[in-house]
Amino acid sequence: MPEPQNVRIAPSLLSADFARLGDQIALVERAGAELLHLDVMDGHFVPNLSFGVPVVEGVSRCTDLALDTHLMIAEPMRYAAPFIEAGSTVINFHIETAPRPQEVVDHIRELGAKVGVALNPGTPAEAILEIIKTVDQVLVMTVWPGFGGQAFIADCLEKLTIVSRQLRPEQRLVVDGGIDRVTAPLAVRAGADVLVAGSAIFGSADPAAAYRALADLARQAAREMEVAEGA
Ligand code: DX5
Ligand code: ZN
Repeated sequence: MPEPQNVRIAPSLLSADFARLGDQIALVERAGAELLHLDVMDGHFVPNLSFGVPVVEGVSRCTDLALDTHLMIAEPMRYAAPFIEAGSTVINFHIETAPRPQEVVDHIRELGAKVGVALNPGTPAEAILEIIKTVDQVLVMTVWPGFGGQAFIADCLEKLTIVSRQLRPEQRLVVDGGIDRVTAPLAVRAGADVLVAGSAIFGSADPAAAYRALADLARQAAREMEVAEGA
């Protein structure tokens, strides 16, 4: 069950205005954001390209927020090091890209970053069984990776619940894709405590207000669960 104090919204820069990235980051930082989500796409593992190491490095120079880097790339082992050197706090790699996932986990950790493992909507929770105890967080995709602004796939809620029951209190459960004011409470009720939100924040005319509304709704859902549990 997500603890209200662990519930966080991670603004995804994919939907931000790249011509004024520093300003966009400052908006959500002032609104209370504690971390940023950075989506790296290679046009191979996913059918889209986004940005790479220089952008992560530039973001790192303009904020002290934790940087949660989501590698949607075919060769996470090959590129983890430069993304960590660029300032990533957490590296999330996709289980679908890793025939020997423990090697990827160990490699990222040796380089000094935290480790997350990400699962596509079509990948079952069992796929991460052998490494789940060794990661800092699990990232469950609730859209097919590659694009912002897609509709939340409600079928993935069950996977969130299954994974959340397997995590220790210090491990985080991240939900990524289609998070808005309607789906944020659903994701928290299913066990998520970090909610990535791109278009719901940066697609809004007032990103700071959109951030705060999502954070309030998510924490409220966690508090209601806490009360129901105690009742
Ligand atoms: C999609 C990315 C997401 C994306 C989410 O491949 O992994 O992080 O930014 O965007 P929204 O919140 O618009 O679904
Ligand atoms: Zn992402």
